[in-house]
Amino acid sequence: MSELAVRTVDLVKRYEGGSIEALAGVSVQVPKGEFLAVMGPSGSGKSTLLNLVGALDRPTEGEVWLNGRLLSAERDLDSVRAREVGFVFQLHNLLPTLTSVENVEIPMMALGVPRAERRDRASALLDAVGLGHRKGAVATRLSGGERQRVSIARALANSPGLILADEPTGDVDSRTGGQIMACLLEARQSTGATLIVVTHNPDVAREADRTLHMKDGRLQ
Ligand SMILES: Nc1ncnc2c1ncn2[C@@H]1O[C@H](COP(=O)(O)OP(=O)(O)OP(=O)(O)O)[C@@H](O)[C@H]1O
Ligand SMILES: [Mg+2]
Repeated sequence: MSELAVRTVDLVKRYEGGSIEALAGVSVQVPKGEFLAVMGPSGSGKSTLLNLVGALDRPTEGEVWLNGRLLSAERDLDSVRAREVGFVFQLHNLLPTLTSVENVEIPMMALGVPRAERRDRASALLDAVGLGHRKGAVATRLSGGERQRVSIARALANSPGLILADEPTGDVDSRTGGQIMACLLEARQSTGATLIVVTHNPDVAREADRTLHMKDGRLQ
């Protein structure tokens, strides 16, 4: 069996004192280097699953293994996340008053990368996503597609082995969505990273190695 980037075992996530069961026992294995699409209706638990896999939140029950390490045994999830995971959120959550290049530098600050090196790498990443001409623009002046590409560059800043994208093309037109996916696929190809994309878009899922379908907090 090939090495696994992600393994979850009977993952359960309940919110609001247990009245909402967002995940009802999800076991999934993702080999290193795979491009996995996750589809399913609104509220089916896709974002919840991504957040647990990306160490943004802890499960109510069950296990998440990242690169062979059990996350619940890790004291410092922030550090694991900063080193190993790149997130692209549906609403990009760039810091609005910072420029593109400053936004891309943020994850590198967490790892103590020196300023000049940060700036060089952020700049190269923005070139790679086709935003070399928008490096100095503050986030609020960027279009939705540009913000999403800055967010991809930011996700790649610390060369993560795992890239998680939650509906990265959800908020843009189909041409821009195509550019965003091309950026993600290029990033995956050039780094060998594992890529998990939550999407409602069948065109995106078609490009994936495999698609998981969720419903009511379970895999179908
Ligand atoms: N922080 C939270 N507190 C309480 N309930 C939550 C929280 N986050 C998610 N939920 C609930 O958990 C369920 C799954 O939510 P989740 O965001 O994972 O769905 P999703 O599949 O990503 O949906 P969408 O396609 O709309 O983004 C929903 O019923 C949602 O209302
Ligand atoms: Mg969601």
